[in-house]
Amino acid sequence: MGKVLVVYFSAQGHTKRVAEMIAGELGADIFEIQPSEPYYDEDLDWTDNGSRVVREHSNEAEREMELVQLRPDNWAEYDTIILGYPIWWGIAAWPVDAFLRGNDFTNKIVIPFATSHSSPLGDSDRLLAAKASGMREWREGIRFSQDAGEDVVKAWLGELGLVSSEE
Ligand SMILES: Cc1cc2nc3c(=O)[nH]c(=O)nc-3n(C[C@H](O)[C@H](O)[C@H](O)COP(=O)(O)O)c2cc1C
Repeated sequence: MGKVLVVYFSAQGHTKRVAEMIAGELGADIFEIQPSEPYYDEDLDWTDNGSRVVREHSNEAEREMELVQLRPDNWAEYDTIILGYPIWWGIAAWPVDAFLRGNDFTNKIVIPFATSHSSPLGDSDRLLAAKASGMREWREGIRFSQDAGEDVVKAWLGELGLVSSEE
């Protein structure tokens, strides 16, 4: 699958931890999707009707956002993008949307993964695929529990043929 870049968005650290595990296993480069306006704890309070995520969830136009860096360095060099995101209300956390819309995926393979408390991957990866342009292939994704261990992550990389599953 050529040169791999692990790209992730993480508001609370769980997806970051899994992304770092993947990059560590593969010896791959890693890139964090960072909204220019970061999410603070109070922004993520889904029990507060006035919080930022609740407003963005109920109004799609509010999900548009600028990123600190839209295009990873040396973007053209990567053949495969492993893309990680948290599940928010059953779909992919939307800071990923800006990354997908703003980059050219021509000739790239995208392999998504999500972390969640309990929700499955659902349609989250399929909905994201529609937002990226020109990619060579969008693979079926996987959902990890928010506290996924190294064993399950490594087993997945083994299934993808990215690491040897034999020790
Ligand atoms: C706004 C918000 C909405 C969430 N919605 C869901 C959900 O629908 N289903 C679920 O299982 N977990 C949900 N979670 C939990 C996260 O998906 C889970 O903790 C994830 O691992 C967080 O990743 P992060 O730490 O990288 O941000 C939600 C969390 C937040 C902050």
